[in-house]
Amino acid sequence: MVDLSVNLAGVRLDNPVIPASGTFGFGEEFKDLYDLDILGAISFKGTTVAPRLGNPVPRIAECSSGLINSVGLQNPGLDAVIAEQLPRMRSFFHKPIIANISGFAVEEFVTLAERLSREPQVEIIEVNVSCPNVHGGGMSFGTDPKSAAEVTRSVKQVSARPVFVKLSPNVTDIVAVAKACEEAGADGICLINTLLGMRIDIARRKPVIANKMGGFSGPAVFPVALRMVYQVSKACSIPVMGCGGVASADDVIEMMMAGATAVQVGAANLVNPYACKQIVEDLPKRMESLGIEKLSDIIGIIE
Ligand code: FUM
Repeated sequence: MVDLSVNLAGVRLDNPVIPASGTFGFGEEFKDLYDLDILGAISFKGTTVAPRLGNPVPRIAECSSGLINSVGLQNPGLDAVIAEQLPRMRSFFHKPIIANISGFAVEEFVTLAERLSREPQVEIIEVNVSCPNVHGGGMSFGTDPKSAAEVTRSVKQVSARPVFVKLSPNVTDIVAVAKACEEAGADGICLINTLLGMRIDIARRKPVIANKMGGFSGPAVFPVALRMVYQVSKACSIPVMGCGGVASADDVIEMMMAGATAVQVGAANLVNPYACKQIVEDLPKRMESLGIEKLSDIIGIIE
């Protein structure tokens, strides 16, 4: 029997496979497709203090090997997540929940972390300083090491749970941002969020996305994500959740060899709603064929 369990800043996961925030909602749309308790954890949709309707449509542009989204953090807001979504999730999901939080001011991140980290199902706070689709918040906090550190420090002061900071790849020096978060007290780093991208409808002579630009994700970004996971995990001593273009058990193993302790699956859920199930089922078989008994043994084995 192979061992898939991992330890994420003190939180034990049965396996490292986690649907990424924004690609799995609050699990509702997936719960009738398969038993979600086979997952390591779920990172729920980026939640803000106030409810948000999101950006104008079209919000999605298909690309070869990926897609661009500009959802604009559509979510029901903090009160509704606590009063409605978390109780609903309790009926079909019994593993750790990762609360992805997003704000337009440091105080909003603090409010979100303070309240959500006291919900019994929430075991990790994921501070989203990397959404490229909103103005005046989102990515602007995560592209400057000082701002990222300020958010981290403030959230750490109030959070009852480990704090992971989800970083943007839209920077020249990802290590500088990650190290600033680590020095500010982060318990872990999650990377990468999406790469800022754009498509043009040449017949309409207009951008495909109403907001012109959006976040690019999918298999095409995997090598970029892997490189950043490798760089950050070598430079920092806190655990890294790898994210970006992961679509198979082999991708999970590659991410872990690069330094990830757990791995988030994003765009693949939009192509195949069974993607995470398939990966969880394939992992033990691939471990056996590669001679891996304990998955955590391969974390960061690449020098
Ligand atoms: O537009 C969005 O809701 C995307 C969020 C994110 O990338 O974090």
